[in-house]
This record gives sequence, structure tokens and C-alpha cells, in this order.
Amino acid sequence: MKAVSQAALIILIFIGLTGCDEKKSAAVQSEVQETEKQFGVKLSEGKLLTTGTDFRNNAIYKKTNTAAWQSAAHGKWFVDVFVSRGILAEYDALKPIPEGGAVIKQGYKIASDAASGVATGPLFVMKKMPKGYDPAFGDWSFALGFPSASQPAKYFLFGEGKDDKVTYCKNCHSDGGGTVGTFGAPKELRAK
Ligand code: HEC
Repeated sequence: MKAVSQAALIILIFIGLTGCDEKKSAAVQSEVQETEKQFGVKLSEGKLLTTGTDFRNNAIYKKTNTAAWQSAAHGKWFVDVFVSRGILAEYDALKPIPEGGAVIKQGYKIASDAASGVATGPLFVMKKMPKGYDPAFGDWSFALGFPSASQPAKYFLFGEGKDDKVTYCKNCHSDGGGTVGTFGAPKELRAK
């Protein structure tokens, strides 16, 4: 009798879990569609970027600018730039970034969104990958993320790594000689 009720419980848990997964994925689908409509892009299906929580963690990343600025090179979004702590010296000196380093730029519709930390624009991501990953473009991986409306710490990814959709990022960040670099925040806004 005990074994039967245990089996029934396991089946119930299983049904509960799969039912919950279906509900979740329907919610994700409708969010993807909303984001595509809002930004006029096609997002890679079901891909979620979770950097959303990491770059806000002051122990892992440093915000490099004192105030958001409007970036003409990135769709005129207001932006903040967060740099992983292991590469701060190189980033400040505009030197080649060591493997594993990440630079994250958060976009906002208006400057006051930046002050309150509400992600209302895309996330621009650059990560330095192991040597040989993409030698023509300095072994960087590029990605563009769009904030999820219902889960503020999550982003839907549009293009990642060597994806064609991020070729325009690489071309602009490249000197054409296999060196791809970072530019840094405008001088007057650089945090000490
Ligand atoms: C028109 C040229 C251009 C394009 C296209 C471009 N960038 Fe940039 N990017 C810049 C410049 C210039 C800066 C520094 C000034 C600024 O942010 O406004 C920068 C800064 C950045 C930074 C902060 C690190 C740094 O360089 O200091 C990241 C991260 C970034 N871009 C990612 C991307 C991604 C991802 C894409 C593609 C989705 C992209 N960029 C497309 C020119 C460009």
C-alpha cells in the first residue's frame, strides 16, 4: 500500500512539473514575440542570457562611468558600461583585454532609467574568448540582448559569438588587422 501511494505521489509530481514547464515556455514565447515586436528584430529562439544578474554585482563587475551617456554608435541609447574586475587595468589603459574578460553595456530609453537601474534598452556584450576562437576579430564574442519584461534579470539573446547578426559589431570594434578592441567611456565620465 505504501509503495502504491509513493508511486502515485511520484506520478503526481511528474505531471505537476511538466505542466509547469509548459506554462513557463508559453510565457517565454509570448515575451519573445512582444520583444520582437517592440524592437523590430527576430530573436534566437528560446535563448536566455543570464548575465543580467552578474553585471549588477559590484563584487564581480565595476561600473566604469559616473553618469549614463547617449551612445551615437549604439542606436542613441543611453548607456552604462560594466567591466569584469579582472580586466580593469587593461580596460582603463585601452590595452588588449585578457581571456575571460567581459564588458557589458546596458542601454536605457531615457537617462533617468539609468539612475534607477531599470533595463529599458538592449544589453551589448563583449567577451574575450580563448585564443583561436575567432582570430580575425581578436577572439571576441559579441552578443546583443533584449530585456525580458516579466523577469528583469533575464535577457533574450539576438546574435551571439560569431553569429552573422553581430558582424556589424565586430566591424566597428575592429581596426581591420585582426585586432578588435574596446574604446572606453567618454573621458569626462570615467569613474576613478
Ligand atoms: C558605429 C560603430 C559601432 C558599432 C556598430 C558598435 N559599436 Fe560598440 N562601441 C563603439 C564605440 C565608439 C564605443 C565607445 C563609445 C560609446 O560607447 O559610445 C563602443 C563601446 C562598446 C562597448 C563598451 C566597451 C568599450 O568599447 O569601451 C561594448 C560592450 C560594445 N560597444 C558592444 C557592442 C556590440 C555588442 C555591438 C553590436 C551589437 C556594437 N558594440 C556595435 C562603436 C560601435
